[in-house]
Amino acid sequence: MTTTDHLISLAGTDRTYACAAGDTLLRAALRAGVGISYECNAGSCGTCKVELQQGEVTDLWPQAPGLSAKDRQRGRRLACQSAPLGSCTIKTRLSDEALARHAPVRRRAVLVDRRAVTHDIAEFTFRADGAAQFQGGQYAMLRLAVSGAPRAYSMSNTANADGLWKFMVRRTPEGVVSNALFGLAAGAEIELDGPFGLAYLREQSPRDIVCIAGGSGIAPMVSILDAASESEHARHRGAWLFYGGRGPADVPVIDDILASHHLERGLQWHPVISVPALAQGGDWAGEVGFVHELLPRKLPRPLPEYEFYFAGPPPMIEATVRLLVLGHKVAASQMHYDRFF
Ligand SMILES: Cc1cc2nc3c(=O)[nH]c(=O)nc-3n(C[C@H](O)[C@H](O)[C@H](O)COP(=O)(O)OP(=O)(O)OC[C@H]3O[C@@H](n4cnc5c(N)ncnc54)[C@H](O)[C@@H]3O)c2cc1C
Ligand code: FES
Repeated sequence: MTTTDHLISLAGTDRTYACAAGDTLLRAALRAGVGISYECNAGSCGTCKVELQQGEVTDLWPQAPGLSAKDRQRGRRLACQSAPLGSCTIKTRLSDEALARHAPVRRRAVLVDRRAVTHDIAEFTFRADGAAQFQGGQYAMLRLAVSGAPRAYSMSNTANADGLWKFMVRRTPEGVVSNALFGLAAGAEIELDGPFGLAYLREQSPRDIVCIAGGSGIAPMVSILDAASESEHARHRGAWLFYGGRGPADVPVIDDILASHHLERGLQWHPVISVPALAQGGDWAGEVGFVHELLPRKLPRPLPEYEFYFAGPPPMIEATVRLLVLGHKVAASQMHYDRFF
């Protein structure tokens, strides 16, 4: 603990942790191995609610959708949007399940490469000092000079000794950070904080792997499949990749992934488009519909026999969870997902 750190005490326990000035209650906890439950790290899901019993924090995003007015009246705060101004006491339930293999670290990273993936998604490669340590499927918070608030982006590569962190980013119309990323020149510096996220590859799972992506949700799925391909245990599993886009132009070309993986039983690739009008005049001969609808039709065995990983827009995630849980009784412990708020 340094002289500028704030001491955070956990009510009802003798546990404390240090939070550096400017850091959030959530990220500092995870750095210190304190498992506060979370999902998005971006103020939207509400999973990281804590009760502030003593002390003051700056609310980094007072309009964050993850917290209701009632929550605020009751003294609740989003740990991911709260920067302590001094010592604080918070009440929260801790769970070691919120801790992944590598504690997050803040570092400078330099843009070294960019390549197009679709008409509106590009893959950005950053290099940072030290090894890039994370689990396939995790994400990092990227902060650019243009915006005080960082954004979450999932890695599209796997851990490596070269310090390379790759991200597939969709250019959002009017989006502050995604547009700024597309405007960066090689050599530009950003802050990269990570890894975060719990939707990572369960290497020891005995079940076959099903990955489902919508839009830029392809990034963590590529990472999970590459991590499985590199894993002595997981590469023996069957693997499926389902991808949903609006039209044919949204479907990424994944020939390099299909050609280079070491998955012993191959990778089954199932793209689908949801707006058939966008295919008119083209040569789309593939599936039409919503990506989750394909699962019971394409997977050969009952759905509870698979391990599911998925990422993308919240409506796609919610439809997939409904189908798996209500329609097919898949256990929550076999579903690992990130909603891209
Ligand atoms: C876990 C996770 C993983 C993601 N992975 C990817 C990925 O791999 N690829 C990809 O393209 N996108 C990903 N996203 C979405 C990404 O984080 C951005 O929301 C998206 O790029 C739009 O950001 P923007 O700045 O361009 O748009 P904007 O419209 O400027 O910002 C949209 C988002 O920024 C956040 N935000 C807005 N205002 C504030 C504020 N004042 N303080 C704090 N936060 C604020 C909110 O989360 C909001 O949804 C992911 C999101 C999450 C939660
Ligand atoms: S983790 Fe804080 S709102 Fe989602």
